[in-house]
Amino acid sequence: MSRKILVTGGAGFIGSNFIHYLAEKHPQDEIINLDKLTYAGNLDNLKGIADRPNYRFVRGDIADLELVDGLFQEGLDVAVNFAAETHVDRSIGDPDDFIRTDIYGTYTLLEAARRHGVGCFVQISTDEVYGSVEEGFSNERDPLMPRNPYAASKAGADRLAYSYFATYDLPVIITRASNNFGPYQYPEKVIPLFVTNALDSIPLPLYGDGLNVRDWLFVRDHCSAIDLLISRGEKGETYNIGGGNLLTNRELTARILEFLQLPETLIRRVRDREGHDRRYALDSSKLKKLGWEPEADFAAELETTIAWYRDNRWWWEKIKSGEFKEYYKKQYGNR
Ligand code: NAD
Ligand code: DAU
Repeated sequence: MSRKILVTGGAGFIGSNFIHYLAEKHPQDEIINLDKLTYAGNLDNLKGIADRPNYRFVRGDIADLELVDGLFQEGLDVAVNFAAETHVDRSIGDPDDFIRTDIYGTYTLLEAARRHGVGCFVQISTDEVYGSVEEGFSNERDPLMPRNPYAASKAGADRLAYSYFATYDLPVIITRASNNFGPYQYPEKVIPLFVTNALDSIPLPLYGDGLNVRDWLFVRDHCSAIDLLISRGEKGETYNIGGGNLLTNRELTARILEFLQLPETLIRRVRDREGHDRRYALDSSKLKKLGWEPEADFAAELETTIAWYRDNRWWWEKIKSGEFKEYYKKQYGNR
């Protein structure tokens, strides 16, 4: 069965991986990729996709109601909203775009969906909405306690999407995933930043004591979870998607350096992130009851990911010599 699917933010890290996943698993699907191409959007992430007859790229803003309305008017089976400002450090420096895109942009999409209907609307939320979880595991009924402007904007969008289910019966599903890793991740995020810095003998800026914990999820497992939820998820429900690989940043950094056979003297302890969440950890049993399991072997996929950045300098060198350069100087220059 062929479906018409709108993917927003499909030129970013997870959105592009999701499009590659769909193209492989559901080659009949018609895909529309709506992306503004902010600093994080990159058409290089979609190599091999652009020429497909059932793929269309639309450059535009999810907060542009006229544009979005026109796309929903075409009649969509599925919409998956990945589009967002996503980097916590940038949200601390300047939250404005986060409120505009993550909250208002989601509202615009929901409005268009309400007007024209859609078979399934997936709102991609995040585990950061639970805030810092010092012990135990967050489940979907836990209170939301976001602690930085990015997380708060995502929490707003998350509950706004739910309200469209409760109020208008829009078929919404909300997902909250943990930290993703894999190819095509913008090198402001810790894994690609540390790998590419290390490859160029630039110090790795480890925040604070390096003991913050993240739960790492291979991006392909995130994609398979979303795919499953589109067909089997219950409308109006929220699902955690955790990789189950909890690591301190120190452990993660040590693994990267070990794989690259580089010394730990490359690590530079720098001033901590403001309001730095200590730990995220998800209970994903609700999703697992639908039949999902992460397939990735964490150690193996971390290595393939590090190797991917090592072997694809063409992809990240362009980025690191562009907009990123100024950002990096501002971000780390005074730490
Ligand atoms: P990313 O920053 O790599 O990509 C975001 C994409 O959205 C870019 O292509 C950008 O151009 C596009 N975009 C931004 N503003 C837009 C706008 N106004 N209109 C249209 N397009 C716009 O992000 P990512 O890491 O791939 O994250 C994708 C989604 O997954 C986000 O919603 C994020 O909150 C969520 N998420 C990410 C992670 C993670 O670990 N990366 C974990 C859980 C949830
Ligand atoms: O948990 C899901 C979230 O994961 C997503 O919702 C966000 O969009 C995504 O950016 C990510 O947020 P984090 O803040 O966890 O990711 P980041 O890669 O920025 O940082 C991961 C950890 O590494 C965090 O504890 C901060 C630390 N860190 C990060 C950077 C960039 C450092 O020690 N040094 C750094 O230079």
